[in-house]
Amino acid sequence: MTIRTALQEATTALERAGVENAAANAEWMMADVIGCSRPALPLHWAKPLEPAQIQRWQSLLTGRTNRIPLQHLLGTAQFCGLEFEVNRSVLVPRPETELLAEAAWAVAAVKESAVVLDVGTGSGCLAVAVAAHAEETIVHALDVSPAALNMARANAERHGVADRITFHEGDALRALPSVGLFDVIVSNPPYIPSLEIESLQVEVRDHDPRLALDGGADGLDFYRSLARHSLSRLQPDGRLLLEVGDGQAGAVVELITAQGGRVLEVLPDLNNIERIVVASADNS
Ligand SMILES: C[S@@+](CC[C@H](N)C(=O)[O-])C[C@H]1O[C@@H](n2cnc3c(N)ncnc32)[C@H](O)[C@@H]1O
Repeated sequence: MTIRTALQEATTALERAGVENAAANAEWMMADVIGCSRPALPLHWAKPLEPAQIQRWQSLLTGRTNRIPLQHLLGTAQFCGLEFEVNRSVLVPRPETELLAEAAWAVAAVKESAVVLDVGTGSGCLAVAVAAHAEETIVHALDVSPAALNMARANAERHGVADRITFHEGDALRALPSVGLFDVIVSNPPYIPSLEIESLQVEVRDHDPRLALDGGADGLDFYRSLARHSLSRLQPDGRLLLEVGDGQAGAVVELITAQGGRVLEVLPDLNNIERIVVASADNS
């Protein structure tokens, strides 16, 4: 079987299984199997798969037709141009969160030795991307899940920024780390309303940790808590940067304003959905 035929057959099988972007998924898996980049695949189309490659290819294809996320099968996810190790303990980093990372490192980079707190760090994608792009930044990364913190630590090591990130195990709904004031508090908290989790895509519902998804009855539990507890932990010119779910921006703006914060802007994502709320503690 040539690589081209394998790709065509896989695309059909993935489409039948209900996988979104079936052709792209097949190509990512094949690129991994034969060890080339996805754009270079056409150069290999006419070649046959070798026996060891067939075994790995079939195992990936079976996994993906069973709706296991591509990133779990490959063990890695791309985020802000960096490769992150992922497993079932952490949310697979999402493209829309790259916007949050960029906004956070843009604020951090203009300050000398900015101190950043990442609340609900998961894979560490935000903490590591900020540390990697704003090179003098000191980062604190908090998560309630010890398994997620292990993965985040591994990713910090992988990208050579572990010496500038301190990891804290704790419950963000109770307290933020007591390490002084922050120049930036950034968070992509769990924000799915509890009852909506069952209706999510299989890959998300069955494979992302529930802890990373469940934002309570209306999805706003973490925003309520962060609005109450984070504004007083910002430096006078500090910024609170929050990712929000589709349709949640208005409610989050109200929560922050009700606690005396000032919302500076709400940034849209690439689909023009209001996605990032930027606020300061200063309401003057
Ligand atoms: C939506 S995920 C975000 C992960 C990562 N920052 C990202 O953007 O991909 C939310 C994270 O919050 C963590 N989390 C859930 N409840 C928490 C709590 N009470 N305190 C601290 N972290 C919590 C989860 O373990 C998960 O890693």
